Amino acid sequence: MEIAIMGYGVVGSGVAQVISMNNQSIAEKSLQDSLNVKYILDLRDFPGDENESKLVKDFNIILNDPDVKIVVEAMGGLNPAFDFVSACLKAGKSVATSNKELVAAKGDILLKLAEENNANFMFEASVGGGIPVIRPLAQCLAANRVDEVAGILNGTTNFILTMMIYNSMSFEDALRLAQDNGYAEKDPTADIEGFDACRKICILASLAFGKHVFPESVYTEGITKITLEDVEYARSWGGVIKLLGRAKRIGDKISAMVSPAFVRNESILSGVNDVFNAVFVRGNAVGDCAFYGRGAGKLATASAVVADVIDCARHIEKRKVFGWGDAIENYVVDHKTVEASYYVRARGDKVFALRRAEEIFGDISILARENAPEDEFAFVTPVKAEGELDAMLAKLEDIEILSKIRVENY
Ligand code: HSE
Repeated sequence: MEIAIMGYGVVGSGVAQVISMNNQSIAEKSLQDSLNVKYILDLRDFPGDENESKLVKDFNIILNDPDVKIVVEAMGGLNPAFDFVSACLKAGKSVATSNKELVAAKGDILLKLAEENNANFMFEASVGGGIPVIRPLAQCLAANRVDEVAGILNGTTNFILTMMIYNSMSFEDALRLAQDNGYAEKDPTADIEGFDACRKICILASLAFGKHVFPESVYTEGITKITLEDVEYARSWGGVIKLLGRAKRIGDKISAMVSPAFVRNESILSGVNDVFNAVFVRGNAVGDCAFYGRGAGKLATASAVVADVIDCARHIEKRKVFGWGDAIENYVVDHKTVEASYYVRARGDKVFALRRAEEIFGDISILARENAPEDEFAFVTPVKAEGELDAMLAKLEDIEILSKIRVENY
């Protein structure tokens, strides 16, 4: 079975490596045919690379070769990935992609193109790296009405937070280490500002709830404002800080959000460390399900892409039906209406401010940490709609709010 790979970066070269490493067992166990990487598209030169002879710079070579029935898209970004993937699908070639930006922004269009052209568009690697989660959600849990999906969806930020929590490492040093390990995106802004996790929760929510969810409609906060002081307060509260993506069914709409959150030590999420990801699904028949594994990294991600290639190969000129419908307006509710509880760290007249906070919020839990400055204080609010909590916080006069982090119950 002839295939082509577009993009010879971390994921693309990982795909070539996994195929060369496991081709025999793939052929024996899964396909009764071997996979042959015929072309690799990349504008860069790779002198001396074992796949040098397969490298091409012109996309049309792949598009116009009728022997290539399956194309891997591992270029990342929207352009030219969207044009190339669209052209492949229109030519009846199936596509397997790891590109979450593409799936989150254009998944509805590409799924339709695949259907119209009797091809398949697969994206297992777009969420959770090597963790099987797209297929389980679309197929194994198909009998359920899914009510909630949530999880730790970005390996880089989970790695950074783990280094901050357990090694007291600075944010900057931990980010550098994540980049050296090949976890972070080329521009790590997408990781640390939560955009990558946002794309992933959009894909999960689209699949779980059946309508396309666009990243622009999802409130997103990253981890750049998290400090070692916040990590200490979380510890004294009995938990850790994690970057969570979550989406929940609310009648015929959904809530969806990405933000850091305090998570209790008892939660299974608190033990998801380093580059690992975890995805939770709550279905009305199955109850709670969790998927755990390596959320980023060359071979882990390539493992999911190659599985898609195998599935495409088994379904040449046949359709594997999964996906979702078009977006509808105002599908994602305003996050200010969603109920939450906040951890708040602030500076000011501690005794006066905490008394005032008790008057305004009612039942607050006051937190402490060793060696805190005299004028620093922290507390956790009761659960209320976020808009209400913000209005209450605004009533706390003469204090400087240093941190505000949601507290979650997963
Ligand atoms: N940069 C991403 C992460 C790669 O850290 O999770 C996998 O999508």
